[in-house]
Amino acid sequence: MSVIVSAAIEEGGRAARVGWADGTSGHFHAVWLRDNCQDERCRHPGNGQRLFDILDLPADLRLARAEPTADGEGLEVVFAPEDHATRFPAGWLREHRYDEVERKAPGWLRDGIETWGRELGDTLPSLPFDAISRDERALARWLGWVARHGFAVATGAPREPGTVIRAVDLFGFVRETNYGRLFDVRSEADPINLAYTGLGLQVHTDNPYRDPVPGLQLLHCLSNAAEGGDSVVVDGFKAALTLKDERPEAFALLARHPVRFAYANASTRLEAKAPMLGLSVEGELVEVRFNNRSLAGVEAPGEAMAAFYAAYRVFAEILERPEHEVVFKLSPGDLFIVDNRRVLHGRKAFTSAGGRHLQGCYADRDGLLSTLAVLGERTEGSA
Ligand code: FE2
Repeated sequence: MSVIVSAAIEEGGRAARVGWADGTSGHFHAVWLRDNCQDERCRHPGNGQRLFDILDLPADLRLARAEPTADGEGLEVVFAPEDHATRFPAGWLREHRYDEVERKAPGWLRDGIETWGRELGDTLPSLPFDAISRDERALARWLGWVARHGFAVATGAPREPGTVIRAVDLFGFVRETNYGRLFDVRSEADPINLAYTGLGLQVHTDNPYRDPVPGLQLLHCLSNAAEGGDSVVVDGFKAALTLKDERPEAFALLARHPVRFAYANASTRLEAKAPMLGLSVEGELVEVRFNNRSLAGVEAPGEAMAAFYAAYRVFAEILERPEHEVVFKLSPGDLFIVDNRRVLHGRKAFTSAGGRHLQGCYADRDGLLSTLAVLGERTEGSA
């Protein structure tokens, strides 16, 4: 257990240094401590939400007192000039130190992400639909694959229209769009989207012309008697990191210059501008947008345009390398889910119109991650 052995006010009350029995110490600012006050005047006891805002705090806030409790298991503080007294648990403070803690340099990918290539096809992350519908543990496993790999398959779902929505209901909420709550993917005589033909589709992320882009896509197979029509998924993060290794200048071009994606029909005008490779402020790769059908323009200056197109081409070639492709055939009843901001999907061409019928829908990642976190906590104790 962490025990506090010393506390000293510094910087005229603007900060305090706290020491623990194991010789470690932490430097805490008065304003940080006050903002993180955990007692019931400051946090809603039910939901933990903060009950004040930054402007409720005095601008000249300082510590009038900071001392370990008699048993060392907490830190007693009094803030001036508002005379607000509270107590921080020693262990909580130690966990939340923000100086002298070895900070891990951000990597290229966020923690918990595992990239993959063709080998994932050998042990497809797949569970029976029945299992994920009935068993929370199985569902947590399945959702964990989506969080980690950005891809999972469920087999043997009912071959009924609307089943894809039942799959989303297991973890979140359908993201409705101009294509409806769900959309049918099959050959049509007058298609509003090339997805609704028998043409092969280059691997892509869906709807990059939206803001925000749908975080998840699900596709459920109702029938698949056609010749061909195999599904293909590619880990866009793996491909982007391959590009970075082989052609760092190409990676930089695709991350630096935005492109416009657009979609229009009689009743819809959608457009969004973003780089094909999206980086966080810390430089981590967080998004891939790639869709040849809806790319509307490259927003690179003239002198960079040829190099940009060369980079785009190299990335497309990397995406099509067999070692990056997981190819599988959906049987009637099967469905798959992809993280649409990471994993690209496509299909091989197929013949025999009407012989292949899928239903798809979109959802968002936050709902899935929330369900995964709740299930994780609920099933942990009973392991
Ligand atoms: Fe698609």
